[in-house]
Amino acid sequence: MTKMSEVLIFDTTLRDGEQSPGATMTHDEKLEIAEMLDDMGVDIIEAGFPIASEGDFQAVSEIAKLAKSATICGLSRANYKDIDRCWEAVKHAKSPRIHTFIGTSPLHRAIPNLDMDEMAERIHDTVTHARNLCENVQWSPMDATRTEWDYLCRVVEIAIKAGATTINIPDTVGYTAPVESADLIRNLISSVPGADDVIFATHCHNDLGMATANSLAAVEGGARQIECTINGLGERAGNTALEEVVMALKVRGDIMPYTTKIDTRKIMNISRRVATVSGFAVQFNKAIVGKNAFAHESGIHQDGMLKNRETFEVMRPEDVGLAGTSLPLGKHSGRAALRAKLNELGFDLADNQLKDVFVRFKDLADRKKEVFDDDLLALVTQNDAEDDRLKLKSLRVVCGTDGPQKADMVLEVDGADVETSATGDGPVDATFNAVKTIFPHSARLQLYQVSAVTEGTDAQATVSVRMEEDGRIATGQSADTDTVVASAKAYINALNRLLVRREQSEPGYDVKGVSYKDS
Ligand code: KIV
Ligand code: ZN
Repeated sequence: MTKMSEVLIFDTTLRDGEQSPGATMTHDEKLEIAEMLDDMGVDIIEAGFPIASEGDFQAVSEIAKLAKSATICGLSRANYKDIDRCWEAVKHAKSPRIHTFIGTSPLHRAIPNLDMDEMAERIHDTVTHARNLCENVQWSPMDATRTEWDYLCRVVEIAIKAGATTINIPDTVGYTAPVESADLIRNLISSVPGADDVIFATHCHNDLGMATANSLAAVEGGARQIECTINGLGERAGNTALEEVVMALKVRGDIMPYTTKIDTRKIMNISRRVATVSGFAVQFNKAIVGKNAFAHESGIHQDGMLKNRETFEVMRPEDVGLAGTSLPLGKHSGRAALRAKLNELGFDLADNQLKDVFVRFKDLADRKKEVFDDDLLALVTQNDAEDDRLKLKSLRVVCGTDGPQKADMVLEVDGADVETSATGDGPVDATFNAVKTIFPHSARLQLYQVSAVTEGTDAQATVSVRMEEDGRIATGQSADTDTVVASAKAYINALNRLLVRREQSEPGYDVKGVSYKDS
């Protein structure tokens, strides 16, 4: 297997990515991301953890039914109940895979309180069970990079003998370094009987900022599957970023002669979509997909770029799906121009959606001289829904150097307009207090983040808000040329999503049981 030059891309945005605090996605968003992953050439999509919740189970089953070419994989712990549930969800796929794991390092063995022999037996039994259900089984020794190497060889051999077809070696806590990552895989392949008949995978976390380097080193060591997520989304500091490993292999094929099936021109669109639905904005200087990744500010750089773009760029923006030039639309642009531009940006909207976006586009164009690609993306990805319970009708904020700021707000709640005034420590605080006065709730604001979509004083601000209530987390986003309006909409958006989540798990239950009508 190590002879093959193709590296399989295993995307776990919908499992390890979605698992990171606050990144929860709705059912429809998961389906949409899965379709984009399938479409861009991802080999294996880890669609979720079916036993974790009914929602996860439904999402994995539906993704399995809809997938066109990707293998659909579900995660399961090392017990029969998890594995059976996982199989129930993935079995609909043209190409299903069961992924089962157990922590093998000393620290992780202590949790189920199994000694080395007992754990070896559990691995044998669970992998055998999975293989009796599905012919494509992936096994992972969690925290492999902190597991004794001889024990790791022993359990990997057991998993292979029990029928695992892919052996994934996770660096669960982002502890390894490139030299060690390559050595570990090389050592396993050369010393474990049967290793040549399976694919070795690498799964790295980014705690020390080495996930991409460690994954590429593992490929040098013989791994032929990289596990990764869009934008590096994932627990703590995240997972290996798909766009980074894929572009590194593409650009540096001279020293890393491996290929992937990824259509790299689809990277930007999916990156933006994942950022929107997860509420995790991409840092400006993030490799490949950051806003500044292809921006050249200094005079020397701009001069060099004008003469020969290769002076300061190792890849072409077009290769990752960025339009080379960005011709802005304005208030005189019509619906056809908008549709053409949106198509170019990867959006194929239905007529009624286009109509809605066109209204918002005209409104924005009235307030802003030029509407750039990023402004349009912000417009299209605004996630207000027809059936939202709370809708912002109007907002007026009085600011000044003296005295508390005051927000006058009209909020539509379940179809009825409710009006209030509230003060606060700053305009945003006053606005959020107004929402709380109209719709009392105990959800806690976990994150409030503002970024400018484009440049200039008339730029749109994108605001992300993350809220938490009783362990449920929801994010909301909105963009507007007025930062306070964008903040209000993002806050209300997050609250609406929290209400949906509450309603799904406890039908008939309102946020903390308090409906504004009762208060
Ligand atoms: O990081 C990890 O160890 C994991 C396993 C479940 C594969 O995500
Ligand atoms: Zn992980």
